[in-house]
Amino acid sequence: MSSSAIDGVPAIELRALRKTYKLRRTETVAVDGLDLVVNRGEVFGLLGPNGAGKTTTVEICEGLTIPDSGTVSILGRQWGQGEDHAIRARIGVCLQETKFHENANVREVLSLFRSCFDQGRSVDEALALVSLEEKQDARQKSLSGGQRQRLAVATALLGDPELLFLDEPTTGLDPQSRRQLWSVVRDYQAAGGTVLLTTHYMEEAQQLCDRVAIVDRGKIIALDSPADLIKSLAAEHFILIDGEQSPSDEDLLAVPEVVAVERQTERIVLTVESVRGALPLLLQIFSARGIEIDGLSTRHATLEDVFVDLTGQSLRDGEDQ
Ligand SMILES: Nc1ncnc2c1ncn2[C@@H]1O[C@H](COP(=O)(O)OP(=O)(O)O)[C@@H](O)[C@H]1O
Ligand SMILES: [Mg+2]
Repeated sequence: MSSSAIDGVPAIELRALRKTYKLRRTETVAVDGLDLVVNRGEVFGLLGPNGAGKTTTVEICEGLTIPDSGTVSILGRQWGQGEDHAIRARIGVCLQETKFHENANVREVLSLFRSCFDQGRSVDEALALVSLEEKQDARQKSLSGGQRQRLAVATALLGDPELLFLDEPTTGLDPQSRRQLWSVVRDYQAAGGTVLLTTHYMEEAQQLCDRVAIVDRGKIIALDSPADLIKSLAAEHFILIDGEQSPSDEDLLAVPEVVAVERQTERIVLTVESVRGALPLLLQIFSARGIEIDGLSTRHATLEDVFVDLTGQSLRDGEDQ
């Protein structure tokens, strides 16, 4: 990475960004007045459901989409001001979907991309970064989804970028491939790189990101570290109790640490401020009323809960978990 990585300006600065798509008579506001600063050295996540405007935002940062209004500063430079080549030399781009020629093998794809950069890493270095050395002679069609995705990331790393864009890098991948990609991102960050990634997997955001912006309908509705976003919820823990019968809401809410009661089929989910504080009193209530408990578990709040709390909607879109 070049020494210009420490020249003081943020990696990304977006101000009042707006982008509308017009298709025949319908108008979609994809990005609706978005402000964002991504600092050098951080892994920053845009988290939101499909259609939230994540890809549009990232493609504006990458210089692939022109916003209707607002300002975009990438490593201190602006697109369309005669510096596009200089920006491009310092960023790595991994699009939401990348298709390489089916008959090209891994080494050929990387060699072709390498020829686009004046400076950068060798093909062998890029192969090692994503642990694809053993697959260098394999054609596209024989690669797994995870291997293809790592190849796409390798093409983005060939120019030795200071700033890496990853749009849904692990969507559709199995858990093992997902973890392999996470370690590529962590290694890149450990070497001083900055990452803007998008995801609709809250676990991914929680695992990888220093800070997360929750995006909904083209707007940022929350921005903080994953831990602090979760702390911002009134209560961070849940107690799940299974059984055919249960005490009344009134009885359950009489326990001071219980914040909310949700009833599901043969299960109650209690939002609590503290599991340790609430549990003994809850068990007393069940026992005093002679109500049997078939199962009991606890869980901590996740970014999913933050999203539900903010929007009343679920982040998941069916394919996840
Ligand atoms: N090229 C396009 N033409 C028309 N509408 C688009 C286009 N790209 C995205 N959109 C719309 O803009 C909104 C935001 O899309 P996108 O940025 O892809 O969201 P995300 O990446 O969060 O799923 C969606 O409603 C989508 O349908
Ligand atoms: Mg997208």
